[in-house]
Amino acid sequence: MNIKKNDQAVRRHAARLAAATALLVAASGASLALSARGAAPAVTEADPALERTREQVKMLDDLYKNAVVSITKRYVGAQDKQPAIMVAQDVFGAMKKQGWHSAKLVDATGDPLGPDNAPQTDFEKDAARAMNAGKPYFDRVVGEGEDRRLLAATLVPAVMQQCADCHGKKVGDVLGFIRYDLKVK
Ligand code: HEC
Repeated sequence: MNIKKNDQAVRRHAARLAAATALLVAASGASLALSARGAAPAVTEADPALERTREQVKMLDDLYKNAVVSITKRYVGAQDKQPAIMVAQDVFGAMKKQGWHSAKLVDATGDPLGPDNAPQTDFEKDAARAMNAGKPYFDRVVGEGEDRRLLAATLVPAVMQQCADCHGKKVGDVLGFIRYDLKVK
């Protein structure tokens, strides 16, 4: 796990992006730091496939979150507009259909705007608890051998005022997480 590289990437992002975006990047930066800490050197060496899969989650997470924040900044002004989250859900659906990974936006407040977004699986329920306990990242490996999958959850806070307004929360409050499900290979 290259912590230095992560730091550099986070710094590059933070420099480029506006203040609201920087908050989100800080959150994902925290998750990078956390997963880097979680993976002790022994684990990294023993399980390169798992480390590659975790790395993929980080990359996807940066992509999805930056896209949602950018769309919200550029196109979502008032509460009656379509939230950028709808775009994320479209893209999640398309990626799954193409046979890539599965990703889902899940609520962690106990009171989702979309009833279908409540945590459903055991992993999602555990992840919601972890997010509310202050963890920015949570993961679990399921299955064995060829069928191993990484389930991961990355925190989604109300990173900007628009999120907070629509969701009836304060900026910085936990809204939910993105749940990833990837084959370990
Ligand atoms: C224009 C209003 C609006 C804005 C702005 C908005 N959301 Fe949402 N959000 C919604 C709606 C409506 C849903 C439910 C969509 C559905 O039916 O699945 C939702 C769903 C979600 C969920 C899933 C849990 C739930 O409550 O259903 C999360 C997490 C979330 N939004 C985060 C964000 C973040 C982060 C931002 C800011 C970048 C944001 N939202 C901005 C309206 C909004």
